[in-house]
Amino acid sequence: MSNIKEVFGHPFFSRKLNLPYSDKLIEEIDKFVTNTPKGWACKCESTYETGTSGFDKSLNNRLMMTLAPNIDAMLKHFINSPRQIPYHLDIWFNKYYQNQWQEIHNHIRPGILLSGIMLLTDPVKDGGHTVFQNPDNTADAWARMFDLNAPGNPNLRKTALSSYYLHGAQKHELLIFPPYLPHYVAPNLTDTPRYSLSFNVRQLR
Ligand SMILES: [Fe+2]
Repeated sequence: MSNIKEVFGHPFFSRKLNLPYSDKLIEEIDKFVTNTPKGWACKCESTYETGTSGFDKSLNNRLMMTLAPNIDAMLKHFINSPRQIPYHLDIWFNKYYQNQWQEIHNHIRPGILLSGIMLLTDPVKDGGHTVFQNPDNTADAWARMFDLNAPGNPNLRKTALSSYYLHGAQKHELLIFPPYLPHYVAPNLTDTPRYSLSFNVRQLR
């Protein structure tokens, strides 16, 4: 289980994947991303509302084949169930232009067992990081909704942070975590768009 460690005492999976079709994926994403989904405070582009049904099918299949064994391994560790749990992957893609970010949030929804993210482009210097917050410190997480004093934001970095975890993910590094872990995306401070994949592992009943 070398890909799984603990963050704030909760299991956290990370593994750099081989994704030779990444450029093709980004071409597809550019066809389908639209404006910021309703209910998000941030400004970025996403396929969260539009879905990925128009995506090239063989590309979609390749992506599923890449993700599935990693999700299965984390699910087995996290749920610790002797039987296989049937699930569906809800996937969406995000594109952050310069100065775009995402507010702190979690993925707690009915049926969601795990959540995941992956950078599809190189990490950007001093920004664009995904930062995780200790779920036991919900007051701090709540306060963050009103303040962008994020560790990825150099202007505001001086502010003391009580409990955060910045993984510093590399391009194509898959992160899988419990859906209750609060997280946010610090502003992209470069003029190169930041592309990422997000997903929820939803239990099928
Ligand atoms: Fe998220």
